[in-house]
Amino acid sequence: MSGEAGKAGKSERPGSGKRKGFCGSRFPVPGSRIFRLFAAALFVSVSCPGLLSAKQTGCLECHSGLLRDKQGKAIHSPVAAAECLSCHQPVSGKRHPADKGSIALVIKGAALCLSCHEDKYKQRFPHGPVAGGSCLFCHDPHSSGNRMLLKKFGSALCFDCHDRSLANGQYVHEPVGYGECTACHDVHGSAYRRLLKQNFSEAFYLSYSSANYALCFICHNKEIPLDQRTDTITGFRNGDRNLHYLHINKADKGRSCKACHDPHTAGQERLVKESVPGFGKWDIPMFFTKTATGGTCVVGCHKPKSYDRKNAADYR
Ligand code: HEC
Ligand code: HEC
Ligand code: HEC
Ligand code: HEC
Ligand code: HEC
Ligand code: HEC
Ligand code: HEC
Ligand code: HEC
Repeated sequence: MSGEAGKAGKSERPGSGKRKGFCGSRFPVPGSRIFRLFAAALFVSVSCPGLLSAKQTGCLECHSGLLRDKQGKAIHSPVAAAECLSCHQPVSGKRHPADKGSIALVIKGAALCLSCHEDKYKQRFPHGPVAGGSCLFCHDPHSSGNRMLLKKFGSALCFDCHDRSLANGQYVHEPVGYGECTACHDVHGSAYRRLLKQNFSEAFYLSYSSANYALCFICHNKEIPLDQRTDTITGFRNGDRNLHYLHINKADKGRSCKACHDPHTAGQERLVKESVPGFGKWDIPMFFTKTATGGTCVVGCHKPKSYDRKNAADYR
């Protein structure tokens, strides 16, 4: 956006024509041409001040800080174009800045933003603050040092409201470590549960379909659970026996990725969780030890199970 910043002239409205009322519609007035022009100008300036006088360099004589202090930062197009009055309006009978409340917003809440931006925020699974119309929790209306006019950088924005421990474990999933929450979540709302960008099934046991784990396969090889035998596509194998295949790819009780991995962070290597849900309230502890060529897993009170890519453990 910063390239956009210095651009003069009226900025275009994304989804323009969205504003309701007479703005943009034709205005037929009978009588002389001069009268028509005059009346039209008067009408438009009263009913949609944004159209004729949105550009308000006068405001910047006193509020230049809004632009000057933000050099090199992203500036919202209508602000860069000094169209203050597309969002603010003087309150009649009051002098600015002498009187309190002398400037009001043209429209309040999310409706202001949605007067220019396409309303794509009503999703099956909405995000709390977006559904509440609180765009300004996350966005600055004028400018920001962060991309997308965001008030904070990366995951810091999320941790204003969400528990930081979500990403604090000893082993952290790479995109989480980089603060790229939006690599997996659509913050404005999603067609998938938990605001996910792609499907990731809720169920713990389910019959295999790669569509159940579409989210993971945005970045990971979707062959991981496909071939029964492999000596390349996954490290989770005993000799050439693919243990991802063995656990996941079943017609009935295939295990979800989340039976073993946490999508954010975990206390054991390879994002392996420390427990799996048992019956009722009981969690069954799971201990994973990685070796150079394989690993050992102890789940609950079962015997340890080891796998080794070079010298396959014998389960015959
Ligand atoms: C003569 C200098 C001056 C001009 C011109 C000016 N302002 Fe202000 N404005 C101020 C000052 C000083 C304050 C701070 C008042 C305060 O802190 O109580 C202020 C406060 C504000 C505020 C926040 C307080 C409130 O009343 O809501 C807004 C919004 C605002 N100005 C918008 C505008 C817009 C839009 C324009 C152009 C139409 C404009 N200003 C023109 C000096 C000016
Ligand atoms: C896209 C809409 C939009 C545009 C364009 C816009 N503003 Fe604002 N402005 C807002 C909103 C929303 C607030 C926050 C009001 C609140 O928090 O209650 C605000 C607050 C302010 C404030 C007070 C708080 C602050 O951040 O300093 C000032 C002063 C202000 N605007 C001046 C301006 C001036 C001058 C321009 C033109 C250069 C302008 N605004 C353009 C939406 C806009
Ligand atoms: C007067 C029209 C107008 C209003 C009102 C408006 N915007 Fe915008 N906004 C724009 C334009 C124009 C762009 C640039 C669009 C583009 O580059 O595709 C933009 C871009 C953005 C961007 C992307 C910035 C970037 O760096 O790419 C965000 C985020 C944004 N607006 C948020 C908001 C929010 C939040 C509000 C309400 C406070 C709002 N807008 C109100 C016109 C508006
Ligand atoms: C919980 C924080 C949050 C809230 C609340 C929020 N946004 Fe955003 N918004 C973001 C983030 C993060 C991005 C960048 C998304 C990305 O990089 O994928 C963004 C991007 C945008 C963009 C530019 C990209 C796009 O999707 O078009 C616009 C415009 C925008 N937001 C408008 C809004 C409006 C309007 C609202 C209120 C209805 C709103 N946002 C509420 C966090 C938020
Ligand atoms: C202003 C506060 C706020 C901010 C900032 C915020 N969230 Fe949220 N988030 C909420 C609320 C409130 C809920 C709804 C909680 C609920 O329903 O239990 C929610 C729900 C969620 C959910 C769905 C949880 C579920 O149980 O379905 C996800 C995922 C999420 N947020 C991710 C994010 C991400 C990623 C960010 C940063 C880009 C973020 N949030 C920023 C307030 C916020
Ligand atoms: C690699 C993808 C991915 C990344 C990156 C990611 N998440 Fe998630 N997140 C998920 C998945 C998958 C779930 C749903 C887990 C389940 O219940 O099946 C989830 C669930 C959530 C929930 C709901 C509560 C919970 O713990 O289940 C919140 C809140 C959340 N994520 C916030 C965040 C935040 C904040 C970030 C950035 C620090 C982030 N996520 C980064 C994949 C991701
Ligand atoms: C946005 C991209 C992205 C998505 C989506 C994603 N991952 Fe990852 N994941 C990575 C990156 C990058 C790494 C580190 C490099 C590597 O090992 O491939 C990684 C590594 C891993 C690792 C190995 C961790 C280690 O310590 O070596 C596991 C396990 C994993 N991801 C599981 C998942 C699961 C399960 C999902 C779906 C819930 C998922 N990932 C979704 C990007 C992603
Ligand atoms: C039964 C437990 C289990 C299940 C279920 C499981 N994994 Fe794994 N996964 C592991 C183990 C153990 C490793 C570590 C292999 C090694 O490095 O020795 C691993 C490694 C990985 C890696 C690192 C690269 C590789 O293949 O070695 C990724 C990525 C990964 N898993 C993704 C997934 C995805 C996506 C799913 C769901 C489709 C999934 N896993 C389901 C146990 C599991």
